[in-house]
Amino acid sequence: QISRVYVTRRIPPEGMRILQESRICEIEQWDSDDPVPRGELLKKVAGIQGLYCLLTENIDEEVLKAAGPSLKVVSTMSVGYDHLSLDALKKRGIRLGYTPDVLTEAVAELTVALLLATSRRLIEAVDEAKNGGWGTWKPLWMCGNGLTQSTVGILGLGRIGVAIAKRLKPFGVKKFLYTDVGPRPEVAATISAEFVSLDVLAQQSDFITVCCALTPETQGICDNRLFSKMKNNAVFINTSRGAVVNQEDLYQALLNGQIGAAGLDVTVPEPLPIDHPLFKLKNCVILPHIASATVETRNAMAALAAKNLLAGLKGEALPKEVPL
Ligand code: GLV
Ligand code: GLV
Repeated sequence: QISRVYVTRRIPPEGMRILQESRICEIEQWDSDDPVPRGELLKKVAGIQGLYCLLTENIDEEVLKAAGPSLKVVSTMSVGYDHLSLDALKKRGIRLGYTPDVLTEAVAELTVALLLATSRRLIEAVDEAKNGGWGTWKPLWMCGNGLTQSTVGILGLGRIGVAIAKRLKPFGVKKFLYTDVGPRPEVAATISAEFVSLDVLAQQSDFITVCCALTPETQGICDNRLFSKMKNNAVFINTSRGAVVNQEDLYQALLNGQIGAAGLDVTVPEPLPIDHPLFKLKNCVILPHIASATVETRNAMAALAAKNLLAGLKGEALPKEVPL
């Protein structure tokens, strides 16, 4: 039996190959590197059985209603699923697939790169070198913070948080702290991390890295209350979701020297407008949401999302399913 499937973007080749070779899908695709316009999405989902989407699509009641009762499975090519309305999916008995695990290593690697770029001021230094700011070797110039003997605070100790800690450990980190909805002793033991409150995490960390999911509980938790308790030279890194951070509060904290620097792979909105004040700060490094962007990882994500979709169409257990 052939199922109708809509793919909302041009995706890595592995994903398309798996869908095509299954011989159970009639595929329609938004064949572009840019997101499908909302109106087009609403039109194209009508009567489909499977939806293959990305984190740029807001899959809410309106989309599900436009799809109608035929829709069985939604598969997002992302580990985050804050762009989907879980209640609306659950209510309609639609299953949801996502792509954990396959991107853990790539995201952890990029987080370390962003942390070092921010703490050692790499972007600023490169600009100085090529724009005439490199007058001579200067003892007090371009100094940042090293990881040796530092305390690193992890906000949200999941797979990615652990993978980050494992990579940072060899740089000489003295202590890992973490906060989460509750202690996670088994996970924490693998990296000898100590469970603390958000306040203690703020007060004691030289580096804070945010790697929690965006949920109603984590929305905006990195705000002035947190920044005002952090060390003045602390470095703040976010590779999770922009909305975990109150961006106005972060901007003020960076501007006023409340904290040392920030490295962000995620913002609100995305893309961040080029005239946004955060772009004017030298102590803020902003990347365009590329944490999982290695060729292998993106192929693995596309493949896993395709397998999730196919399993859902066949009524089988999804390889990686979000419990609703
Ligand atoms: C990326 O942000 C993802 O959720 O996979
Ligand atoms: C730095 O280049 C040094 O020699 O200390």
